[in-house]
Amino acid sequence: MFNPFVINGIIPDKYFCDREKETEKLLRCVRNQSNVLLTSPRRMGKTQLIRHLYQQEDICQSYYTFYVDIYSTTSLQEFILLLGKEIYNTLVPKGKKVLDSFLNVIKSLSGSFGYDALTGLPSFDVKLGDIRMPELTLSEIFDYLENADKPCVCTIDEFQQIGKYPENNVEAQLRTLVQKMNNCRFIFAGSDRHTLENMFNSPAKPFYNSVEQMYLDRIDKSVYIGFMQQCFEETGRPVQDLTVFEYIYDLFEGHTYYVHQTLHNVFAYYDSWTTVTETLINDVVSEILQDKEHSFLTQLSLLNYTQKETLIAIAKDVNATEVTSAAFVRRHSLQSPSAVQNAVRTLLNLQMITYRQNGRTKVYSISDRFLQMWIARKY
Ligand SMILES: Nc1ncnc2c1ncn2[C@@H]1O[C@H](COP(=O)(O)OP(=O)(O)OP(=O)(O)O)[C@@H](O)[C@H]1O
Ligand SMILES: [Mg+2]
Repeated sequence: MFNPFVINGIIPDKYFCDREKETEKLLRCVRNQSNVLLTSPRRMGKTQLIRHLYQQEDICQSYYTFYVDIYSTTSLQEFILLLGKEIYNTLVPKGKKVLDSFLNVIKSLSGSFGYDALTGLPSFDVKLGDIRMPELTLSEIFDYLENADKPCVCTIDEFQQIGKYPENNVEAQLRTLVQKMNNCRFIFAGSDRHTLENMFNSPAKPFYNSVEQMYLDRIDKSVYIGFMQQCFEETGRPVQDLTVFEYIYDLFEGHTYYVHQTLHNVFAYYDSWTTVTETLINDVVSEILQDKEHSFLTQLSLLNYTQKETLIAIAKDVNATEVTSAAFVRRHSLQSPSAVQNAVRTLLNLQMITYRQNGRTKVYSISDRFLQMWIARKY
C-alpha cells in the first residue's frame, strides 16, 4: 500500500499538505517580477514548497525552472558548476534547439560540454578545474537566463553559503547580475535565518532591500489534522479517535518533517494494529530515536565538554530562555555565563541549535527535534 506520508523525494500533489497561501504568494512574486527570500527553521518544508510551486500548471508550462542546493559548495567555481549542470540537465529533454541556445552562450567552457564527438549525444563533462574564468562563465550563464526563449525561475537553496566562499566579492557580483535580469526571477532560500537576514536587511550589504521576504511557519493545526484524517480514510480504515493526530502535532509543535516521519512509520505499522493510539505513537517515536542513536552519538562526540553540557541544558528546557543568566547556569550546573555564551555561539554556527525572537528575548532550541527528545531522555 502506498504510504501517503512521503518523507523522501518528490511528494505527489495529492499528498502535499496545504501551503496554499504560500504557493499563491510565490506565484504572485514570480508573475510580478519580484525576487524572494524564503526562510524557515530547518525541515519545515522550504524545498518541498518550491518543488510544489514548480509543479503548478502556469509555472511548468510557461517557465523554465531551475533549482540548486548549494549547501555543499565552498567556492564560486562549485556554484557555477552546479548551476551550469542544473540548467544543462533541465534543457536536454527540451530538444536540440533549446539546448543549443544555452551551449552557444557558454563560450568559456565550449570544450567541456556539448555533444559527444562519437555518439552525437548531449554530454556534460565540466570539471572544477575547467572553470578558469569563473566571473566570465557566471556572466555567460546569466546572459543565457536573460535571453532564454521562455522566462525562468531559478532557486538557490541554502543561499547563505555564498557568504562563506573565499572569493570575497561574490555577494556583490551576484547582486549586480541579478539586478539586471528581466527574464529570470530568483528565489533565495535557506534556514540560517540569522545570516540570511543579515545579508538582505543590513544597509551595508549588496542584497539590501532587494527581495520580498517570506517566513515559512508550521502548517495550521486543524488543516494538518484534516490532512492526516483524509490520508487514513483513503485506506478504508479511518482512525476513530482524532485526538491521536492532535497528539502527534503537539509532540513536535507542528514541525513538518518530524510530524511526517512519525506518521510515515505509524502508517507502516497500521496494517498490524487495529487502532492508532498514543501508546503506538510513543513506541514509533522511541524506535525512530533508537535508529538514530548512532548518528546522535557521533554528533555529540564532536563537541567539547562545555558545548555538550550546554546542548543538554537547552534540550532539557526544550525552549530555553536567558541561557547566559546566572539562574540558567545554576539550574543546569553549568560552568559560567561566559562559557555558555561561547558554547552557544559554536552550537549556532554548527546549526545544532537555533533561536527565535520572542519580543526582546531569544528562545533557543535544538534544531533537530528527534535529537532534542533523545537527549532529554538519555541525560
Ligand atoms: N507541504 C508538505 N506536505 C507534506 N509533507 C511535507 C510538506 N512540507 C514538508 N513535508 C515533509 O517534511 C520533509 C522536509 O521538507 P523539506 O525538505 O522541504 O524541508 P526544508 O525546510 O527544505 O529542510 P532543510 O532545512 O533541511 O533543507 C519532507 O521530506 C516531507 O516529508
Ligand atoms: Mg531544503
